[in-house]
Amino acid sequence: MSTGATILQHDSMARLTVEGCQGAGCWIHDVTYHQPIDFVVALINASAWCRQFIQYECFGSALWRKGGNHIGWAVSRDNERLTNWGGVDTGTEGCQCQFTGDCPGLKCNCDANDEVWRSDEGFLTDSTNLPVIRLQFGDANGQGYATLGALECYGLAKNDS
Ligand SMILES: *[C@@H]1O[C@H](CO)[C@@H](O)[C@H](O)[C@H]1NC(C)=O
Repeated sequence: MSTGATILQHDSMARLTVEGCQGAGCWIHDVTYHQPIDFVVALINASAWCRQFIQYECFGSALWRKGGNHIGWAVSRDNERLTNWGGVDTGTEGCQCQFTGDCPGLKCNCDANDEVWRSDEGFLTDSTNLPVIRLQFGDANGQGYATLGALECYGLAKNDS
């Protein structure tokens, strides 16, 4: 066994500008990895754990709204809309700030939906969802920036004999 990080980049490593449409998920950006998806999944399967950073920086642009309308999300390799943002377990709705007490009454910092730059970010860590293959946002008559990090995998099992 040997350990170390394997970093797989994709075609959208730069910060993405989200603008110009209003409906939930109306802004769509597909993400392509430099290796075939089967190779990427095989790496994930062979690794002890993997993670992928995701961030939304917002100015008057929400991710969830009070009342539970999902506006922006990541899409898993199986084409499933993820209800959780970075730093939150699969199946839980919203962003990490709910659990740190930083966004009382809201699911995400961006849900303040005000004229202040805010951010929701963290690592997605559920290997069964990784990597993210699409980003979707809405409420983008305000401004937003999306960042999706490389897929990082650790503890790759190798035959060293
Ligand atoms: C990865 O693991 C999943 C779940 O165990 C399995 O269904 C899938 O076939 C594996 N894929 C590859 C490419 O190894």
